[in-house]
Formats: sequence, structure tokens, C-alpha cells
Amino acid sequence: MKTATKVEGAKPKAEALDYIRVEGGRPLVGEIVLRGAKNTVPKNMVAAMLTEDFCQIDNAPEIEDVEIVTKIIELYGGMVTNDTTTDSITIEAKDIKTPKAKDMVTYTGKSRIPILFAGPLLARLGEAIIPMPGGCDIGSRPVDFHITALEKLGAKVEAKGDHYLLKADKLVGTKIKLDYPSVGATEQVLLAGVMAEGVTELSNAAVEPEIIDQIAVLQRMGAIISVDTDRVITVVGVQELHGYSHEAMPDRNEAASWACAAAATNGRIFVRGARQLDMMTFLNKFRQVGGEFDISEEGITFYRNGQLKSISIETDVHPGFMTDWQQPFVVLLTQAHGASIVHETVYENRFGYVEALNQMGAKIQLYNKCLGGNDCRYSGTNYMHSAVVTGPTPLKGTDITVPDLRGGFSYVIAALAASGESKISQMAVINRGYEHIVDKLRGLGAKILEVKTIKG
Ligand code: EPU
Repeated sequence: MKTATKVEGAKPKAEALDYIRVEGGRPLVGEIVLRGAKNTVPKNMVAAMLTEDFCQIDNAPEIEDVEIVTKIIELYGGMVTNDTTTDSITIEAKDIKTPKAKDMVTYTGKSRIPILFAGPLLARLGEAIIPMPGGCDIGSRPVDFHITALEKLGAKVEAKGDHYLLKADKLVGTKIKLDYPSVGATEQVLLAGVMAEGVTELSNAAVEPEIIDQIAVLQRMGAIISVDTDRVITVVGVQELHGYSHEAMPDRNEAASWACAAAATNGRIFVRGARQLDMMTFLNKFRQVGGEFDISEEGITFYRNGQLKSISIETDVHPGFMTDWQQPFVVLLTQAHGASIVHETVYENRFGYVEALNQMGAKIQLYNKCLGGNDCRYSGTNYMHSAVVTGPTPLKGTDITVPDLRGGFSYVIAALAASGESKISQMAVINRGYEHIVDKLRGLGAKILEVKTIKG
């Protein structure tokens, strides 16, 4: 049987990006290669904790969540190797034991992934110490669905300030209904249900392609999971799971970001690895706004097809228009003729980034009403969750600070579409989800005047 061999120091810690200075006004032209999805690979790694066997993920990205999950697996005594020459990560969680809480809380507030360790650790050790979650500041982002689901499965959960302490002699399958089809809570139930005793039935589950990818990995490991009609997922618990080898799914959010960058700068980008089936809703809207694309087995080429036109979009859970596509798309809408409407229904606070776009010359007005579609969960609240974008407005370069991952990428697109120079600070936030961003931009012909890094 294959085993992981630790190569100490094989991978030097990357320097974090601080700021870049760019000169806009040039089309982005060329090819970029999509890497494994930020929102699946760290979770595939967590699944490896369900077994003592060797697990392997190919096409893994070098991003912060992968680093954090690596550190947590190692704290539990698992072995992780990350071969940057082949882009493969291997995990072997053979002899694991609970670490000290003081070591675990180093990761408090850093990521939303660690809470997903709950199920695998309860199955293997009967207890789990989990750092409190963090992640981008785009809403309150509670984890109440996760905690309620774990309690229903039989876990005792104590919040200890900077971490959760969970205990369970065993988890027992049950019926769980989510108030909202949360991606993370669905993954939580999958990872906890696979080795629970009996059957777990999850209603109102999320069914994003990232969830299906997780189910595929778990099925390879020996799990029995069916995705039924009407958002019901049924998990038949098994006593033992084994290792897996998996090619990470390509990052469709990264693909959508580059598509918007191509159209906003009037360029042409071949996104190698982009898959039509994961992006059909995006492709429809992209075409309606005046973008165009050519699809091949290897990927998708994105470009602009004449003048951009105003449209209306509403973010939603799959198969709707993803909330993570909204921010780069809004930059496109600033260049479209007429008034576009954007209704954000997934997060209550995902328009924080538009103020800086307005400083660059965009005309974006926020509203607390549900504009352009159905009433959402935020109807009648004060959350500014709808936007009217009036265009086209020429953008001017300026100094901007990245607020969150997707908002940050939208600033990069805006700066590249703008006339003049921009300084974009806190680029490290973008690096959390977009691997080798500077190299990729340079490869597409972006004029990057200065790159400042902070030593790790
Ligand atoms: N929610 C609750 N309680 C919970 C869990 C979620 O109220 O216990 C709410 C959230 O506050 C939000 C909604 O449910 O309003 C949806 O949240 P969800 O749980 O689906 O999001 P997540 O799992 O935390 C993942 C991605 C996000 C992506 C969303 C939606 C990861 C690490 N993150 O977050 O990605 O926007 O699903 O598709 O997978 C990003 O990549 O920039 C990003 C934010």
C-alpha cells in the first residue's frame, strides 16, 4: 500500500503579497490555467481524516485554506505532503490524536473550513477541538446550522470562546432539515453522516457542483450517498472508509472571474480547464450582457461581442447565479449601456466593495429593497442587498484596498479596465483564492508596475 513520506522543508513558505501598482487601459489577452477549486480541495483534504489510508488530490492549488487544513491535519498527527512540482497533495491520517486546544486556536478566525473536521474527528476519536471559524467579511456568516445538525446527530457541542469542544461516543443518523440550503452545513452533514450509525436524511440541502464533487470523493472512499429529488440527500452510514485518489474539480469561480476580466478590458482569455456544465447559468448571463465564449474540450475562451448591454441578475443557490460571480460581474455592468439591477440574496452584506468602484468613476447605487426579482430573506431589513449599476462609466485608476476575496478581484479588473495607475493594497486577501495572481496577470499582458511582498 502507498504511504506518505514527509519531505521536511520541501516547500518554502510563499511570501505574502502586500500591494501591486498597475497601469490600466490594456486588454487582457492570452491563456490561464485553472487550478483545483478553492472551495473543494480543502474539504477533500478534511474527508481524508475519515480513514487511516493514503489519500491523494491532484491539481491542488497553493492557497491559504490548503495551508491551514494541512497544519490542522498535522496537529492531529496526520501526515501531509504537498508536491509543488506535480501539484499533488497526499494525506495519511493513520495515528491521530487530539492536540492541545492552545495549539489549535492559532487558527481561530482564519478560515471557515476547520469546522468541517467535526464529523471525521468525532468518528475517529470521539472528540474534536475546532478553532472558531473566520472567512471573508461579507455578512454575519453564523454556523448555527452546523451546530444544530451535529447536535441532532448526537454530538455534545461546547463553545469555549476561541474554539469548540465536541464529544460523541457515536453519531447516529437522523432527519435534518436546513433552514437554507447552506453549502457548508450540507458538507458538514455529509462528513458527519457517512460514518454515523444508520441513515441520515438531509432536506433542503445545497446541491452545488462543489457538493457533488465532495459526494464523489466520499463515494470513492466507500460511502453510500444519494442525491434525491427536491434537495434531499440520503446518507447510509458505513463502519469503515478507505483511501482515495481524486483530480480536483477546476475552480469555476476563478473561471468566471477571468471571463469578466476578458470582457471588461475588451480582451480575450482562454481559460484552460473551465467546464461548461459547471457554469451554464453564468454563461447565459455573460452572453446576455454582451460577452461571448467558445467552448472546447480543453476549456473556454471568453471575449466581448460588441457593446455591453445592461441586464438584471439575482444571486441564488445552485442552479442560480452564484454569489461569488456577482462582484466581477458588477465591474462588467459598469461598462454596459443602461441601468442594470443586481439582487444579492445569499449574503446580506456583499456590496461593501462598491464604494471604491464609485470612487473610480462607477455609478452604483445600493438599496435595502429586493429589486428586480422575488422577495428574499433580507426583505424588510436594512441590509443594502440590491444595486442599480448605471453605465457605461469610464473608470479612473486610484488607490484601493482589497476588502474581501471576490470584491478584491473585482478591484483588479476595474484597475485594469481603468485609465491611469492604481495601487491595490492587501493583495494577500486575493491570494487566498487566486493562486499566482501576479504571474497570471503578467502572462495576460497586464502592465504591473510594482509588486510588493511581505516576508512570511
Ligand atoms: N448560513 C447560516 N447558518 C449557517 C450556515 C450558513 O445562516 O450555519 C447562511 C450564511 O450566513 C449565508 C447562507 O447561509 O447567508 C449561505 O452560506 P453557506 O453556508 O452556503 O456558505 P459557506 O459554506 O460558508 C461557501 C463558499 C462561499 C460561497 C458560499 C455560497 C467555501 C469555503 N465558501 O460558503 O465562497 O459564497 O458557499 O456558495 O466553500 C468565496 O469563495 O469567496 C466564498 C465566500
